[in-house]
Amino acid sequence: MQTNPIGVFDSGVGGISIWKEIISLLPKENTIYLADSKNAPYGQKSKQEIMDLSVKNTELLLKKGCKIIVVACNTATTNAISYLRKKYDVPFIGIEPAIKPAALKTKTKSIGILATKGTLNSELFATTSEKFSEDIKIFEQIGEGLVPLIETGKIHTATMENLLKKYLKSLTKHQIDYLVLGCSHYPFLIPQIKKIINKNVTIIDSGEAVARQTKAILSKNNLLNTTKNIGKHQLFSNLDATIISQFIATEKASCKIDFLDF
Ligand code: DGL
Repeated sequence: MQTNPIGVFDSGVGGISIWKEIISLLPKENTIYLADSKNAPYGQKSKQEIMDLSVKNTELLLKKGCKIIVVACNTATTNAISYLRKKYDVPFIGIEPAIKPAALKTKTKSIGILATKGTLNSELFATTSEKFSEDIKIFEQIGEGLVPLIETGKIHTATMENLLKKYLKSLTKHQIDYLVLGCSHYPFLIPQIKKIINKNVTIIDSGEAVARQTKAILSKNNLLNTTKNIGKHQLFSNLDATIISQFIATEKASCKIDFLDF
C-alpha cells in the first residue's frame, strides 16, 4: 500500500498548483492526477452535481489503487468532502480558502476572498467565515469567468486582465491587507494579480498547507512511501491533455500526460 499512488483531482488544471506542492514536499510519492476539464467549471454547478462529479473522480482514483485522495478543488471540498468521507474508507485531504491565517494576521482587520460561486455559497465556507467575522471584515468576490480562461490557456489576455482588475478593485476598495485565493486555479494568476494590487496586500493560497496535511495524514496512517526512488506521475485530462503540459515544467521528466475519457 505504501508505494500506491496519491490520487489528486480537480475540475481541471487548477489542482496542478496543489499537486506541485505535494510532489515537492513528498518527492518519493507516486501520484495520479485527474483534470476533469470536460466538466469545468464546477463553480457554477449545483451541490448535487459537484457531489456526483466528485464521486466519479474518486471512484476512478480508487480503481487505480490510490491510497489517499486529495480533493485539490475548493469547490469540490466545500460541497462534497464530508459526503466522500462518509462513503469511502480511504483518507481524504481537502482544500479550503485560507481564511484563518489571513484573519489572524490582518492589521487592517479586513481581508478579501476571491473564489468560485460554489465555494462562497457553501455551508462549509459560511461556517468558517462566521467563526472569524466577529473580529474582522471578510469581503467576498466571485471570480466568474476566470477558470474557463485558465482552462483554455488564455491567462495572458486582455480579457483576463480586465476581469482581474474588476474583481480586485471590488476587494481592494475595502482596505484589505490580505487577499485569499480560494480556488486552486488562481495561484496561476499570481504574477498578474501582483501587477494590479498594492504591494502591501499579501496574497495567500492553501497549496503548501494541503501538502503538509497530506504528509501528516500519510505518516499517521503509516502510508508514506519509503522507497529510495523518485516518484512517478500520471496526469489525465478528459478534454485536452496538451493543456496540462503548459502548467508543468521542471517536473515533466517524471510525468506521463494522457487523455482519458472519464
Ligand atoms: N479549481 C476549483 C476550485 O478550487 C474549481 C474551479 C471551477 O471549476 O469552478 O474551486
